[in-house]
Amino acid sequence: IRAWLREQLVEKYPGVEFDILTPPDEKMGDYSVNLAFALAKRDKRSPLEVAQGIADSFSGSEYFEKVQVAKPGFVNFFLKTAFLQGELERIYKDKAYGISNVGKGKKVIVEYSSPNIAKPMHIGHLRSTIIGDALANIFEAQGYDVVRWNYIGDWGTQFGKLIAAYKRWHDDEAFQKNPIQEMLRLYVKFHEELSTAPELEKEGQEEFRKLESGDAESRAIWEKFREMSLREFGQMYQQLGISLFQDAVVRGESDYEKDLQPLVDDLVKRGIAVQSEGALIIKLEQFGLPPALIRKSDGATLYLTREIASLNHRIAEYKPDKILYVVANQQALHFEQLFAVAKMLKFDSAELTHVKFGMVLGEDGKKLATREGKTVPLQEVMDKIIALAYETVKQKNPELSEEQAKEIAHTVGIGALKYNDLKELRISDIKFNWKAMLDLTGDSGPYLQYTYARLASVVRKAGQEKLVPDISLLEHPQERRLMRHLLDLPDVIERSAQTYTTNGIALYLYELASITSSYYEAVRILDDDESADGKKRRDARLLLVETVMAVLERGLGLLGINVLGRI
Ligand code: ARG
Repeated sequence: IRAWLREQLVEKYPGVEFDILTPPDEKMGDYSVNLAFALAKRDKRSPLEVAQGIADSFSGSEYFEKVQVAKPGFVNFFLKTAFLQGELERIYKDKAYGISNVGKGKKVIVEYSSPNIAKPMHIGHLRSTIIGDALANIFEAQGYDVVRWNYIGDWGTQFGKLIAAYKRWHDDEAFQKNPIQEMLRLYVKFHEELSTAPELEKEGQEEFRKLESGDAESRAIWEKFREMSLREFGQMYQQLGISLFQDAVVRGESDYEKDLQPLVDDLVKRGIAVQSEGALIIKLEQFGLPPALIRKSDGATLYLTREIASLNHRIAEYKPDKILYVVANQQALHFEQLFAVAKMLKFDSAELTHVKFGMVLGEDGKKLATREGKTVPLQEVMDKIIALAYETVKQKNPELSEEQAKEIAHTVGIGALKYNDLKELRISDIKFNWKAMLDLTGDSGPYLQYTYARLASVVRKAGQEKLVPDISLLEHPQERRLMRHLLDLPDVIERSAQTYTTNGIALYLYELASITSSYYEAVRILDDDESADGKKRRDARLLLVETVMAVLERGLGLLGINVLGRI
């Protein structure tokens, strides 16, 4: 209805900026519009007079009880309670949340996660994974054909070095037990030894050359690196409840190796890439960007070269309308260059967006790191939040069995991790405040899960009896507020899809939970009034509660967060 009202106003008064506000107090209606101020200024009239004109134009509307002017020029809209009740029933019955289907017939590729093999997945990849998955869910909800894409970093000269190190020093047992740790050890050792054995550099180069030319032994070792790494990434995704292998296109940078020579030849032929000091570059002055390096003087291709090939493949093969790259802020220049090159190549059938995000900071406000200043492996972060969640769950509900408590702690911990990320403006750095992340009374994932669980317990207590609700009995101001809030979901989703953000949805759900909690405290839902009317009212309230639960579940589901029947 908010969106409908906006449309009406835009149609009647095109070209004027305005907001549809939610007044703090029901005496001021359900929506308050500030359009008259801008309009009055433009037409040099009095705001009150203009506001009256706007209000009058809605007289006799089927949705509004009344439309009133308030000083100094607001227009306040009061929804008919019967309208709210009807909408509630619609949502309850059909689980139709009114989410728009604007994506029908359109395809979007959402690239996210994209870790590098032979290294532990780190906290930056976690942000990409969480945000990307939520955005993919949001687009899916709007009817888009969503292609989830995981672009694995599995190529580059570093793998020559790693193969050289592997051949010299690898420990089979360690490799079987903890492959990524062992690869990391080998890579670090290679660089340590380099200072006393400079010939290693050449060895690494030679190994990469062999790998590139398809040498069977090098290839087999590299395959093993890749396979072991992907296996471990799969375990991460499983713990996060994100399926990025089964339902995603998984392509490595290595998959584009064979396309690079023809690509480079073509770029040269078309005069787009030019020689510069033995290297090949694409000049991007016209875009105000530094030149893109396509091939180094030693003949090696680069991250960006493979990226162009991959973009070409994504467009040619999938014909998407949009491609989103959910990748950290730090790679902004890389994507500006990529998109500039895409313009030169007339790759203009798809809208390309770098969906950037900030860093993860520790409690001290500095970049989250181990004591030695290294990046924190993702597994450690997950283990820690789940262990903390376990304590909370045990405290809240001591009679749970060990197994139940563990399972719930997992869902709560992962929910905390995801919500902590998704509630923030994506572009800013986020903080890891472990306590706040798990705070059952604050703006946290567990608070939302807890609200849901409390409602679930009300419904359980009410028993199985068939509902005989009379929705017209829902008239309490808190009930109106809840019903009104339920209507905002489609709008919130629309906005978040347009801006590739998730914080609006998180805020919406937090507000829904807060309004519900205060409703729950103000009104006895399971009223023991056994009269016929009392029972109807009670069942109407249960219907409202069940609808709130459904919307919480749907909304949290978009954020990749699971609900729980009990905590
Ligand atoms: N593998 C890269 C990294 O971990 C991220 C890849 C991002 N995606 C892309 N299309 N370049 O830094």
